[in-house]
Formats: sequence, structure tokens, C-alpha cells
Amino acid sequence: PASASSAPHGEVTVGGVALTEVAERFGTPAYVLDEGEVRDRCRAYRAAFPDGDVLYAAKAFMCRAMAHWVDEEGLGLDVCSAGELELAVVTGFPPERILLHGNAKSPEDLATALRLGVGRIVIDSTGEIARLAAHVPPGDRQKVLLRIVPGIAAGHHNAVRTGTDDQKFGLSLADGSAQHAIARVLEQPRLELVGLHCHLGSQISSVKPYLSAVRRLVGLLAAVRRQHGVTLPELDLGGGHAVAYRPGEAAMDLTTLSARIRAELAEGCAAAGLPVPRLTVEPGRAIVGPAGVALYHVLSVKRTGGQTFVAVDGGMSDNPRPALYGVRYAPRLIGRHSTEEPVLVTVVGRHCEAGDILASAVPLPADVRPGDLLAVPVAGAYHLSMASTYNLVGRPPVVAVHEGRARLLVRRESLADFRNRDIGL
Ligand code: LLP
Repeated sequence: PASASSAPHGEVTVGGVALTEVAERFGTPAYVLDEGEVRDRCRAYRAAFPDGDVLYAAKAFMCRAMAHWVDEEGLGLDVCSAGELELAVVTGFPPERILLHGNAKSPEDLATALRLGVGRIVIDSTGEIARLAAHVPPGDRQKVLLRIVPGIAAGHHNAVRTGTDDQKFGLSLADGSAQHAIARVLEQPRLELVGLHCHLGSQISSVKPYLSAVRRLVGLLAAVRRQHGVTLPELDLGGGHAVAYRPGEAAMDLTTLSARIRAELAEGCAAAGLPVPRLTVEPGRAIVGPAGVALYHVLSVKRTGGQTFVAVDGGMSDNPRPALYGVRYAPRLIGRHSTEEPVLVTVVGRHCEAGDILASAVPLPADVRPGDLLAVPVAGAYHLSMASTYNLVGRPPVVAVHEGRARLLVRRESLADFRNRDIGL
């Protein structure tokens, strides 16, 4: 996090709190979240899109405190399940600033969204139009957007590229299914089509794919106006803005992104004779990723087969990203200073799979040993939200650090939690 500072004896503080102190008080593995950095990142987005809407994508990380901070900073929320939605609303998040996504929304998702009164629902398929309309009470109208596949390839891994025609989300512009669905939504009296949506993918550091998306969607807005005489007032470009996981990696430059998108949108609309629609973006990772640190204790150090394996007390259950996407992290030793030369080690987890590797070729001091504390930066997004209880290892707690104070936001999952869910023979 931006607030991190290192002392010569190896201590690192985040949000004014020593990480060794967090480890001692709350145990490891643990996720540490710098509240100030989350808030700063929210503010930077608000400042970059002053006349648009910024919706935090809750899938990156969600808890009640997070929803509260995002609300206080004036962002809206993008949710993709009744679970995320309920948690936000019980925190007091205004439902009209929430948007619901999902390629396969369950009846519970739709019923919850309508009961709580979410501001927008993004329709992802033609079949969903009638299904959603059936949930809307007679006389009411639900505001909806339609998710468009613009035919643009972008994103850090195939598993998160959602702008191309060969994947499950949205409706294709190229084969006419988007145009067909627009006509169907416009016929539906209980739905009010307010705009178009697209989400290209995740961990994108170039503005170019976003500019292509703007051009294609403005083209579609113009076609909707020609064919239906309807001017759609909103355009949602999704999220996907990259952060640097290791020093030297490319991150999305927010100021450039905002300036170029808004310029492209203004030009495109002027050329098509359209009013400029209200712009929405849905960042998840870029709000919370760099604000998080994962803490682990080393449990074992083993030299075998020409490698040094440094095994920690967590692993693929609290961070599946290296195993899923081959993402590379930069763990570092904290809490003590070593004068030993660094050696390249493999940092592995405690799970029963050889693929449970958190990071390879990590330079750690040659005297790295059990009991040492490791910190993994940029652990705020898609860690806890994708964590599992594999091997019945409980999910780590989330500790917020802010202005020199540490407080528990989400407690560690315990053996009692496992026992209680399992209702017996
Ligand atoms: N909007 C929509 C419709 C999305 O599907 C997503 C992410 C976002 C916004 C936020 O994207 P972000 O700004 O966080 O990149 N588990 C993967 C990432 C999956 C992203 C899924 N959708 C990972 O760990 O890299």
C-alpha cells in the first residue's frame, strides 16, 4: 500500500500499524487492508470521472466495512449475487446506487434485487428479458442495461477475457443478437432500457481496448436511435483497470484512461449527432487490490530436488490466483533484517497439491527459517473473495489498519464453523 513504510530492522508498517503486530494479535494467515488507501483510490476515481458514475465491483472484495467506505466516498456498487446485494443493503448502502450483474441470475438474485429496489439490472441474455419482467410488479418499471459483446480481446488471462464472441457473457454485436435483444427489451412495458454495458476483461493496462469499445457502442447507440427512435442515456464500460503486482509491472493510468475515454465519447457522439451518454465505470481490483497485504508465517524450509521450498501457513485456499492464472507475486520477508545474501526460493502453501505454489523464483535471505513472517503485497482483490476452505483450512481474517489502529473486519473461519455447517449423519 501507498502508506507502507519500512524500517532498517525489517519492520513494515501499513496505515501506521506494524505488520508484525497485526500478525501477533490476529494470527496468520491474515489479510490486512489499508482503509486510507481504499478511500484514496475511491476519491481518485470520483475525481477522474466527475460527471459519471463509479461503481465498485464487489466481487473483488466485499464486507460490510468495505461497502460502508465505498458509500461514504460517493461510489455506487456493482454486485453479482443476492449475497453481495444483501450484505450491501444491510450495511445501509442505498439500493438505487446498486447495479446487478450475472450471466445466469437465479430466481433468488432477481427476487432480492427487485425486493430491495436496485437501481439497475444488466440483462445478459434474451431469455432473461421475460424472466426479469415477470418479477416486476404490475405498474412498475425496472431500469435495465443490456450487456453487449463488442468483439474486443483484452485481459490478463483467457479466463477473464469477456469482450470476445467465444465466451458466455452478454450478447454479440457481430452476429446481431445484441440488436435483436434491444428490440425485445424495448417492447417490454415493465422494463426501461436506459443504456448499454460492456466489460472487456480484467487487468488491462492499455486504454486502446476501451477506446475501441466506446467507438463500437456509440455506433450501436446511433443504430438504436435510427431504428427505434430511442436515445439511450447511459453507457457503462465495466471495469478491468490493471494494477501492478510486482515492481515494474504496468498499471492503468487513471487520468489518461478517463481523459481518452471522455474525449473519444464526446467526438463519437458529436459525429453521430447523439447527446453524450452518462458514463459509468466498474473498477474492482484498482480500488482494493493495492490496499491489501497478505501475511503468512513460514512453517517449513526444505532443500530438495535442486530447489528451496519455503512453505507458509496458507496457500491456494487463500490465494488461488497463481494456480488459476499463473499470476506472479513478490512476497518479502518482514519483521527482521537479515544480512544473508538472497537466494531464489519457491514459496509454497500447505495444501495437498504440488500446484499449490504462491510464488516462484522469489529472492529471500539464505537464512529464511520457520517462524519468519512473509508479506505479499497487492492482496486486496480476488483473494478472500475467491478463497476456499480446501483441506478444511479456515479462511483468514480481514484486519483493517488506519491511522495507527488495527481492527478486525472479518474473523477467521474456525473449526467450530466447519462443525456447525455439517449437520450430521
Ligand atoms: N464489471 C464486471 C461486469 C465484471 O465482470 C468485473 C470483473 C468487473 C466489473 C471488475 O473488474 P476489475 O476492475 O476488478 O478487473 N478473478 C479474476 C478477475 C475476474 C474478474 C471478473 N469480473 C482475477 O483474480 O484476476
